[in-house]
Amino acid sequence: MCKIAPSILAADTMRMGEAARKIRDAGCDYVHFDVMDGVFVPNLSFGPALLKDMKAEIDLFFDVHLMLIDPLRYVDVFAANGAGAVTVHVEAEHFAESVERIRALGLRAGASLKPGTPAQALNAVLNRLDLILVMTVEPGFGGQPLNPAMYEKIRELRRMGFAGEIEVDGGVTMENAPLLAQAGADTLVMGTAFFRSADPAGLVRDVHALGVSAGL
Ligand code: DX5
Ligand code: ZN
Repeated sequence: MCKIAPSILAADTMRMGEAARKIRDAGCDYVHFDVMDGVFVPNLSFGPALLKDMKAEIDLFFDVHLMLIDPLRYVDVFAANGAGAVTVHVEAEHFAESVERIRALGLRAGASLKPGTPAQALNAVLNRLDLILVMTVEPGFGGQPLNPAMYEKIRELRRMGFAGEIEVDGGVTMENAPLLAQAGADTLVMGTAFFRSADPAGLVRDVHALGVSAGL
């Protein structure tokens, strides 16, 4: 079975409460919460106050993706406001310290790779990670097409011996979802595909029905 983590980046920002309830009512596994600082990526999104209010509205698992140049400065506040997992980019400053801080706070620790960053960049920290978030688009904006070269990166992470959770983020649709699952992905982030779906509960059932192979 694959898990689904809708990205609220694709929601109508005037209707975030409605978006949160839609995610809960459709039976999703996590809420994917994209945080951008306008420096690490050329866009801004939202911060810890929205996380706190959403967590109070729907008690789901919040999967926080920090697209920040210095994530270490913000790990604690996202932990205090309800994050269940915090993912930081290997290309960012204080990456290894951030991973250790996330672990010390008792949260699931994730590392993310931009499309141009090889799987091997995570070699030194592989056994410190609960999850790896493979970016299948350049981070910053929803609604972009998935880069098919990333299937091989997922396989490579499995060949490197990573047995934790692999999540994919960017351009995921029900057309490419079976290929991602086959390559070894456990969890699919879906922004546009989820929020534009006419049948979100059906989409969740379809994702849950996907099998996960060894990815080798
Ligand atoms: C991009 C974000 C993604 C994005 C996914 O920087 O990390 O989570 O919102 O959106 P879709 O599914 O629309 O590509
Ligand atoms: Zn994301």
